[in-house]
Amino acid sequence: MKTLLKKLTETFSPSGYESAIRDVIRAEVAPLADEVRVDALGNLIVRKGKGGKKIMVAAHMDEIGLIVTHIDKKGFVRFTGIGGVYPRNLPGGRVRFVNGTPGVISIEPADKMTESQPLEKCYVDVGAASDEHHPLKIGDVAGFERPFLDLGARWVAKSMDDRIGCLVAIETLRALKSTPNEVYFVFTTQEEVGTRGAETSAYGIDPDLGFSLDVTGWGDTPGQKYFEMSLGKGPAIKIKDGGMLSDPRIVDWMVTTAEKHGLPYQREVLLGGTTDARAMQLVRAGVPVGCISIPCRYVHSPSEMVDASDVENAVKLATALLSQPVEL
Ligand code: CO
Ligand code: ZN
Repeated sequence: MKTLLKKLTETFSPSGYESAIRDVIRAEVAPLADEVRVDALGNLIVRKGKGGKKIMVAAHMDEIGLIVTHIDKKGFVRFTGIGGVYPRNLPGGRVRFVNGTPGVISIEPADKMTESQPLEKCYVDVGAASDEHHPLKIGDVAGFERPFLDLGARWVAKSMDDRIGCLVAIETLRALKSTPNEVYFVFTTQEEVGTRGAETSAYGIDPDLGFSLDVTGWGDTPGQKYFEMSLGKGPAIKIKDGGMLSDPRIVDWMVTTAEKHGLPYQREVLLGGTTDARAMQLVRAGVPVGCISIPCRYVHSPSEMVDASDVENAVKLATALLSQPVEL
């Protein structure tokens, strides 16, 4: 599982540029699936089983990144974020552009050392002396560069959001020997810019119900306030986030299944942010949805951290949910 996670998290695929990660996932799932296809927005749709309830399970395969807005005369590159990019997480970091060009991020000095700077004060230095023969142009896209780090019980990577959800989906598909349901594992595109891939894939699949697999926040580090979630206490069953109320019948289904199988879980109320489940819930005439979340520290930084046991228990919970007939 760790070898696959390293490969998944170290692959560069910012939103809209998911072809590299799609190739990695497709190679992994093809031998396990009954059908694999790619839709117009690049979503990888993987079916297992036929007949019964149509269940959509979404994990997004894109990651946050940068896009070039301007290159100045001295060759410094200005950019804007693709998805939620926070300036405080950037200085000293490294990026790699889709065309292979590496660079380092820095920031203009603030008037006071303690002041935080907006994104407009950040720039990428690719080692160019001027804008002539520059390796980049406006619109070029980069992902963050940071190798996977194995801390034993905890794993760290630049794109745990949401390659950890992709890993849970892949391992669930592997564990799902048979199912009375028609399960669609969807590795979605463009989640970080507004759950766009989930919207079109859910419309195409027209599921009876579904859930997303994504990261959530944490409350167990110094100074964190108002959030119950901890690493290592089990995957979270989402009740509410910034964009969605889970269907209570889906929450019940998840809680009952977790308790029946003796699996740890946490109840999640997330104050901001949302997942692919929001798009699935609002597609066509509406779909009952929920979400299994992996608690993750330092979300949207180059060092996002999860607990290995939460990941393993998320796979067990998702497998138990999908192996049985579903009556809401
Ligand atoms: Co995210
Ligand atoms: Zn995510």
